[in-house]
Amino acid sequence: MKKRSLSGIQATGKIHLGNYFGAVKNWVDLQNEYDAYYFVADLHALTTAYEQSISIKENTYEVVADLIAAGINVNESTLFVQSYLPEHAELHLILSMITPLPWLERVPTYKSKMEELKGRDLNTYGFLGYPVLQAADILMYMADAVPVGKDQAPHLELTREIARRFNFLYKTNFFKEPEDLYTDVPVLPGTDGRKMSKSYDNAIFLADDEDTIVKKIKTMFTDPQRLRRTDPGNPDVCGIFAFQKIFGQGAKVEQGCKSAAIGCVDCKKELLEALLAFMKPIREKRQELISDKAELDKIILLGNEKARRVATKTLDDIKKIIRIN
Ligand code: TRP
Ligand code: SF4
Repeated sequence: MKKRSLSGIQATGKIHLGNYFGAVKNWVDLQNEYDAYYFVADLHALTTAYEQSISIKENTYEVVADLIAAGINVNESTLFVQSYLPEHAELHLILSMITPLPWLERVPTYKSKMEELKGRDLNTYGFLGYPVLQAADILMYMADAVPVGKDQAPHLELTREIARRFNFLYKTNFFKEPEDLYTDVPVLPGTDGRKMSKSYDNAIFLADDEDTIVKKIKTMFTDPQRLRRTDPGNPDVCGIFAFQKIFGQGAKVEQGCKSAAIGCVDCKKELLEALLAFMKPIREKRQELISDKAELDKIILLGNEKARRVATKTLDDIKKIIRIN
């Protein structure tokens, strides 16, 4: 039998290249080897976007279209939407009973995310419980492996701690501790040099049209010390180089940059060619998908049903273990 993998992505915005290389590409690569469960974490989106400044439902469609266009095969993997399975909320509640508050207060993403989303009031019970909901997502499916970006390490560690605590308290070995499967791609910078994130307004989205992508790459920061075309550059501090390593010929660019054999304008032009070619089929596929919401609804419904079979069983077993009904 195949091992099971599970991962989720928040529905706070469309998928950008940072999400793609940080996690989604890995999801696609693993879907043959694993019995894969992937989902849109729309309840997680609500922890920070509860004021409805964005439409989570609309984003959910966009993310599902992005995921399929990026290569998730819904016949092979189970692709579903979290909020359609109340079991996630129920398991979150049950796990919240046994999760010590200090464990949550010391999760590093708690403070860093608040910092990133300054201006929003995140002094809420739900936001503090974000990683408990994530633990519920993971433990619900008895996932062997969780493919995520390195930034999620603290959440996986907490998931394991909660699993251990549950097993200890109820004298069981019901939960197994999930392994992480980190992607080894370094964090992709956004156009301003900070990590690519929709909250920084520096992201390149799978949905972006060609003009937008060209504009974004043109404004992207390069080595700030390289003022003249004849100055040698330092690719290690250049955002374009981070992209060249993925899309272009990294070694050649590095050499050309350091020896001033190539200029930044040409370097960007070269990168754009490769980037646009890569993004075109994905963009076309997602456009086709998003224009037919009824079809997307069907896909989501089927995935939800497949996921529900596992979720109801887990929850029934847990209720027996904790002797609640
Ligand atoms: N917190 C994850 C992120 O921001 C999204 C997520 C929610 C998730 N539930 C999950 C990831 C369960 C893996 C497993 O990327
Ligand atoms: Fe960056 Fe390329 Fe310019 Fe070097 S040549 S600084 S890698 S854009």
